[in-house]
Amino acid sequence: MITERLNVSDIERDKINIDRAAEILKNGGIVAIPTETVYGLAADAYNIDAVKRIFEAKGRPQDNPLIVHVSDMKMLSEVTGNVHAKALECAEAFWPGPFTMVLPRGERIPAAVSAGLDTVAVRMPSNSVAHEIIKRSGLPLAAPSANLSGSPSPTTAEHVLLDLDGRIDAVVVSGRADVGVESTVVTLCTDPPRLLRPGGITLEQLKKVLPDIVVDKAVLSAPEEGKPVASPGMKYKHYSPKAKVVILDGDLDSFVNYVESRKCEGEFALCFEGEEKRLTIPTVSFGKMDSDESQAAVLFDALRELDKKGCRLCYARMPRKSGVGLAVYNRLIRAAAFEVIKL
Ligand code: TXA
Ligand code: MG
Repeated sequence: MITERLNVSDIERDKINIDRAAEILKNGGIVAIPTETVYGLAADAYNIDAVKRIFEAKGRPQDNPLIVHVSDMKMLSEVTGNVHAKALECAEAFWPGPFTMVLPRGERIPAAVSAGLDTVAVRMPSNSVAHEIIKRSGLPLAAPSANLSGSPSPTTAEHVLLDLDGRIDAVVVSGRADVGVESTVVTLCTDPPRLLRPGGITLEQLKKVLPDIVVDKAVLSAPEEGKPVASPGMKYKHYSPKAKVVILDGDLDSFVNYVESRKCEGEFALCFEGEEKRLTIPTVSFGKMDSDESQAAVLFDALRELDKKGCRLCYARMPRKSGVGLAVYNRLIRAAAFEVIKL
């Protein structure tokens, strides 16, 4: 299959390519689209065959449910059986934006979208190109991140093509995803509501609307063997470069001491910007130490960069666990298969 490239840098000027993407989606095709978090691989959420093609193209396990993307509140009420007051408050506070809520699954959404669960995850993206594609197609779009299952999520169209060229009908080429990590996922189907995956909307922001929200165990720790998980996506080893990643938990001085005393061929440091000058081993940086947002924006690029440079083993600096840092930590600790060395 030849993957069409549909350039969109301006919604008005490139309308023809937005219309083309919408047409492919209406005909049951699968199209990678930009969002403000990461690029997503979209299909008509009502079309079971199109949804199956997403799982095939990504090599995604069948038991990992998809997020459905909507462009307005009418679409939300079509995909979920029950938009209750809490859901409306969350939509008011966090939509459009990097926030996903898990609600009861509406009758029109095939079970395959939600991997057989009776719930559905829904998000209204703020990226104007994504918004326009949903609106033009008139369809809610099921869309996981547009990477091969297990590899780091794509923040550019080039990343999408590296993983999926020839496996999908089209990619909408439209600049970088600015948040850089996937949306915050909260289930409103439990009492109290539960944070399943941290992202661009922080726990601190969530607490203002959902004061009793609890953090699911899977956010910070490895899932226990054989136990059911609230968010199936969290049980897989995710976001992994080919390189082995180890997080070093300590200050910069102890990080430098540890890394410099052990240097071997193929070993890299994944450090914060400006720290390179303290290190003699090869480095890749991921944002500024005092800006969680800057770390989130480039984390996945940094993981891909390590592979490109032939890294075998990488020692990573420890992100903060507050603000967007919680999302950075959550992704990095999975890339590291939960291996942390306390310095
Ligand atoms: O920012 C994002 O959310 C991106 C863009 C494309 O919107 N999408 C994304 O999708 O990250 P994906 O498939 O890579 O991650 C979906 C996550 C998984 O962890 C999955 O388990 C969880 O959402 N999820 C989906 N439906 C669920 C449900 N009904 N109940 C619990 N968790 C669910
Ligand atoms: Mg993903």
